[in-house]
Amino acid sequence: MAETDYIIIRAEEDGVHVIGLTRGSDTKFHHSEKLDSGEVMIAQFTEHTSAMKIRGKAQIFSAYGAVESGKKK
Ligand code: TRP
Repeated sequence: MAETDYIIIRAEEDGVHVIGLTRGSDTKFHHSEKLDSGEVMIAQFTEHTSAMKIRGKAQIFSAYGAVESGKKK
């Protein structure tokens, strides 16, 4: 699992949350990381993390392209 692609999240406002959800039959939040505007988090999907939820305005870059989270103005 160490070689999985990275996801890059760049916060565009203060208080963006990157929430990791567990892999397996139970899907639960296991980690929440708070980013302030301009902060970048580089993360992978792992044996513990099957999904991520991004709350707040951010740019997300992955092998599947770029997407924006948060309210549209
Ligand atoms: N301990 C977590 C894991 O190995 C760390 C982690 C990896 C994580 N990717 C994440 C936490 C994405 C939150 C979001 O799975």
